[in-house]
Amino acid sequence: MNVKSSVVALTENIHWVGYRDWTVRDFHSYHTSRGSTYNSYLISDQKKVLVDTVKAPYVSHLLSNINAVLGEEKLDYIILNHGEPDHAGSISELVRQFPQAVLVCTDRCRKILGRYHDTGEWNFSIVKSGDRLEIGERVLEFLETPMVHWPDSMFTYSARDRILFSMDAFGQHFVSSGRFDDEVDLTEVMQEAKKYYANILMLYGKQIKRVLNQAAEYDIGLIAPSHGIIWRRHVDRILERYRDWVDLKVKARVLVLYDSMWESTRIMAQSLIRGVMEKGVEAKLIWVRSSGLTEIATEVLDSSVLAIGSATLNKGMMPAMGAVLTYLKGLEPAGKKVQIFSSTGWGKGAAEAMTEQLRDSKMEIIGEPLKVFWRPDDKELEKCVRAGYQLADMARQAVRDQA
Ligand code: FEO
Repeated sequence: MNVKSSVVALTENIHWVGYRDWTVRDFHSYHTSRGSTYNSYLISDQKKVLVDTVKAPYVSHLLSNINAVLGEEKLDYIILNHGEPDHAGSISELVRQFPQAVLVCTDRCRKILGRYHDTGEWNFSIVKSGDRLEIGERVLEFLETPMVHWPDSMFTYSARDRILFSMDAFGQHFVSSGRFDDEVDLTEVMQEAKKYYANILMLYGKQIKRVLNQAAEYDIGLIAPSHGIIWRRHVDRILERYRDWVDLKVKARVLVLYDSMWESTRIMAQSLIRGVMEKGVEAKLIWVRSSGLTEIATEVLDSSVLAIGSATLNKGMMPAMGAVLTYLKGLEPAGKKVQIFSSTGWGKGAAEAMTEQLRDSKMEIIGEPLKVFWRPDDKELEKCVRAGYQLADMARQAVRDQA
């Protein structure tokens, strides 16, 4: 392995020393269709400082990269912006290799690390927002960012370099030979940034909004997140997208999600989307068994209105729809309006089960479910088309409301 080829310079004295995970496709159930990276950064000043580590299986690559930059010199500090194992998983080995290094993190991070590692003898320096660390020509500043992504998270900022080490924020599960935003297809990477926000951070929009306001105090020339590419040419664009997402900015767009058994719910879904399209509003229809949860959450993010439908199975909804609603409930996609629709044979079924499941999701259920028995007749399908018209109007109104 050519070790030096995997070290990338951000500046003369700051290097990316992380790991490109080309083949990962499952990241705690997040479908990482374009792989990922675990970004670790090495700052070479009078003191030698590592910012974050990599997932445990890749520690030898990290150590090789550190060695390629430092040679005989040793790390003085290891900053742990976050204790989740994809970033702190290598820390036990790092401590064995660099026992003199001081571990800089929040108190919550120290406690989390104590659950994953034998930290009893480790040399911690606990920091909080506004604390600074002088390392020579540079002074590093810390900003606690609780729930972006875990309670322990923080940012590290170098004013001299105008670099924000932003942990999970602004990251993407995206791997490429290029390490910077101007070396890759920007459309692809923005889509992955959106997917990452939708699936990892959407639940914490309020906390991220507060952090964005605090980080606005910094003069930022480059954002170095813990996954994916580093932002240097499009810093303003990714900040703007994050502001849209935390402000729940939506498009006039209706998303129809359904699962069916004997085609009844499917033809209801097709009638609904026909109504939306006849009104000239953007629409998308997804059969949930043909799409993964990661992609569905991403589609939800900027849709203003949803229609969610399922056939009845064993007095409840279809299992694939159950998984979707459980996932969405966890992400709390606030402010979306939802029309429920279903088909059933007798008694209560999917409509009631979906209503119950959506109650705590922070989405707003529209009126009564559209419910048919056995097979929808022409009148019922016409009713679905008219419901599509209403959903289209609501989607347009949602955009007017946020103007
Ligand atoms: Fe990429 Fe919350 O860790």
